[in-house]
Amino acid sequence: MANKKLLFTKKQIAEIMQKHPTPFHIYDEAGIRGNARQFKKAFSILPGFNEFFAVKALPNPFIMGILKEEGFGADCSSYPELLLAEKIGLQKENIMFSSNDTPATEYKKARDLGAIINLDDISHIPFLESAAGFPDLICLRFNPGPARKGNIIIGDPKEAKYGFTREQLFEGYRILQEKGIKRFGLHTMVISNELNPDFFIETAKMMFELATEIKEKLGIKLEFVNLGGGLGIPQKPEEKALDYDKLAAGIKKAYDEIIVKNNLDGIKIFMECGRVITGPYGYLVTTVLHLKHIYKEYVGCDACMANFMRPALYGAYHHITILGKENEPTTKMYDVTGSLCENNDKFAIDRPLPEVREGDILVIHDTGAHGHAMGFNYNGKLRSAELLLRENGEVIQIRRAETADDYFATLDFVSLEKFQ
Ligand code: LLP
Repeated sequence: MANKKLLFTKKQIAEIMQKHPTPFHIYDEAGIRGNARQFKKAFSILPGFNEFFAVKALPNPFIMGILKEEGFGADCSSYPELLLAEKIGLQKENIMFSSNDTPATEYKKARDLGAIINLDDISHIPFLESAAGFPDLICLRFNPGPARKGNIIIGDPKEAKYGFTREQLFEGYRILQEKGIKRFGLHTMVISNELNPDFFIETAKMMFELATEIKEKLGIKLEFVNLGGGLGIPQKPEEKALDYDKLAAGIKKAYDEIIVKNNLDGIKIFMECGRVITGPYGYLVTTVLHLKHIYKEYVGCDACMANFMRPALYGAYHHITILGKENEPTTKMYDVTGSLCENNDKFAIDRPLPEVREGDILVIHDTGAHGHAMGFNYNGKLRSAELLLRENGEVIQIRRAETADDYFATLDFVSLEKFQ
């Protein structure tokens, strides 16, 4: 199988490891900035285009700060994510709050920040009103149900818990209109990690037609259509990256044919991508601790599923490079595992690799989105550090590794003594 490009050598990683022991995630600032600029340039052909980075993908304020500098807003899904957006100085309508099953406190925080609120369900209209009152600008999330097909990550729309049905959507806007709301948005998010631009162009058409119908039936001219995130990245070496220009041109064509033709010109286009913004620019670096030969050949690493769970959760392919063996033939077949008492704690199953030795350093690719963020503490595993390779070649720590004290931070050992 072809290889995937790596931005550092074994020697560079060995130097980094003198200060920062494995496992760690490392992000590439130049890669993130270069991609963000390309993304922005391509989609700026769409009226009022704005990208709200999906904070859930990489909730680190250093990275969010970089993306803010590149002109992105933030899409938040919880109270702590709203706090992160606030901490990096985002406010008002540069924050989108796309949550589901939302507690009142979170709506209050979103209101305090002046964020755009994206409602996930019709029952949240009265809930929001009594919890926090309505903001000026309200967005409703549409679930197209059987009209569209999703994938394993988001679920098939008709099986997915998100959003309003079509009927509820019209009813929702009508109720809000009655309550005096004047500014509206429309949102959907039907797929994640999709590489086919046509899928998103179809979604855009569906949304633009819906925007036209909303105008016809309710007299509402939407302020924006948020096409969600979901743009995929090439995780397998043979896969090709999405062509931003082609996708932007396809969406623009649909906009002209539907929105402009129906005299709705001016509706802004928003996106809230996570993966495509940072995913390819993150790597999990881990050391091989043990080799185990039983019915299969196992490579045991010092990282585990608690550091990166996408392969275990979705069966996702993430490429693995053994540093210093980039050009060696892949003559062996391994399961690459972590240390959890869970048999799905595997970064790869039946993966052809060059011969692995204890002490080898493995780099797991494409962990820059939904990577560290999805970490957890099962089996008392501690989450790793996050490092940033700056544009000038310097490496800085942007989150330290957890310690046992962090793991115990929510326990009260004084009460325990009294209790015993
Ligand atoms: N907006 C909303 C409302 C979302 O729910 C999501 C992802 C995004 C934006 C960003 O999607 P992206 O552009 O990153 O695909 N943990 C999964 C992905 C999460 C999907 C849920 N929502 C994974 O590791 O693949």
